[in-house]
Amino acid sequence: MRVGIIGTGGMGRVHASQYGKMPDVELFVYDRNPERGARTAANWNATLYSNPAELIEAVDVVDICVPTDGHAQLGHQAIEAGRAVFMEKPLAGTLEEAVGLMNAAAAANVPLMPGQVVRFFPDFLTGHQLVKSGAVGTPAAARTRRGGLAPTGSEGWFMDHTRSGGILLDLAIHDFDWLRWTLGDVTQVYSRSLAALTKTGPDYALSTLTFDNGCVAHVESTWMDPNGFRAAFEVAGSAGLIQYDSREAPGLRVSPAKPSEPEVGKSYLAVSQTPTAPLEDPYYLELRGFLDAVKNGTPVPVAPIEGVHAVAIAVAARQSAETGQPVRPAREF
Ligand SMILES: NC(=O)c1ccc[n+]([C@@H]2O[C@H](COP(=O)([O-])OP(=O)(O)OC[C@H]3O[C@@H](n4cnc5c(N)ncnc54)[C@H](O)[C@@H]3O)[C@@H](O)[C@H]2O)c1
Repeated sequence: MRVGIIGTGGMGRVHASQYGKMPDVELFVYDRNPERGARTAANWNATLYSNPAELIEAVDVVDICVPTDGHAQLGHQAIEAGRAVFMEKPLAGTLEEAVGLMNAAAAANVPLMPGQVVRFFPDFLTGHQLVKSGAVGTPAAARTRRGGLAPTGSEGWFMDHTRSGGILLDLAIHDFDWLRWTLGDVTQVYSRSLAALTKTGPDYALSTLTFDNGCVAHVESTWMDPNGFRAAFEVAGSAGLIQYDSREAPGLRVSPAKPSEPEVGKSYLAVSQTPTAPLEDPYYLELRGFLDAVKNGTPVPVAPIEGVHAVAIAVAARQSAETGQPVRPAREF
């Protein structure tokens, strides 16, 4: 398959390294910064293009890794050319743009997948499956935490919240998507964010989500943790608790509410640990799953509507942080 990456910054390079593990992929790259494009082309034995139209023409699949405010325009260009599109998260910078991309892909009958990669992280996937299979009984409350130091990006664009959407659209969206996937539709969101009003700089946000099934979730998102990246979640239900913390070993634990045979000093079951094998990398699994679906003509692992819902929750969270009022995310598209 001929795969063309547009944007070879942080994520474009991560994607290039994953395609490098796939013998059936021929790689093409374009970045509007010619030196960055040339470096990635040299590192991954890819063909370098000097404009997006020519790259789109040359490939079967377009993988868009430019800053968020550039997603919609390049997405439409690729879809109009009839190409399958992988779009880094968030699907787009606004809800209108995200819906527009979903509708355009459906009308053109081309696959489109948003990069909600947390679904492919083994402990988040296992946690989702455990909740769905009833390991905590009826879920009641969840808590997530994600973040580290503020990302800078190639042009300082992350800290310009008019470009990145700030921490709620850029970072919390991972947890909004995982929680909705795991607990169902979100009724209402209430958020506070340091930079909701200033629209610039590092940010820290707390969001409370309520769900149609009565669950409540607390989402902590930070670009101000000097201790480095950490992701964590907890889901509590009638039959027990699932906990994951990327800084713990083992990371994922299940504690039944009433352990039948408690071991001394250990009231939990360690379910998994983060694997390190190259073909178990979540970015590999995400992109491989997408390419296999394109090849086989089967549905992509994460449908565009999932990316639209995630953007809708994040947009509602931003609105809540700006107004101080709880907001119901849009649900009809
Ligand atoms: N899934 C994840 O875990 C994850 C992590 C980080 C970023 N992201 C997302 O990936 C996207 C890219 O983020 P990043 O960290 O790689 O940013 P980055 O700034 O490191 O890289 C962006 C690259 O795109 C290039 N570029 C900008 N506009 C372009 C255009 N119109 N055409 C071609 N190239 C262009 C820049 O020169 C730069 O090289 C964002 O949407 C971001 O939200 C996802």
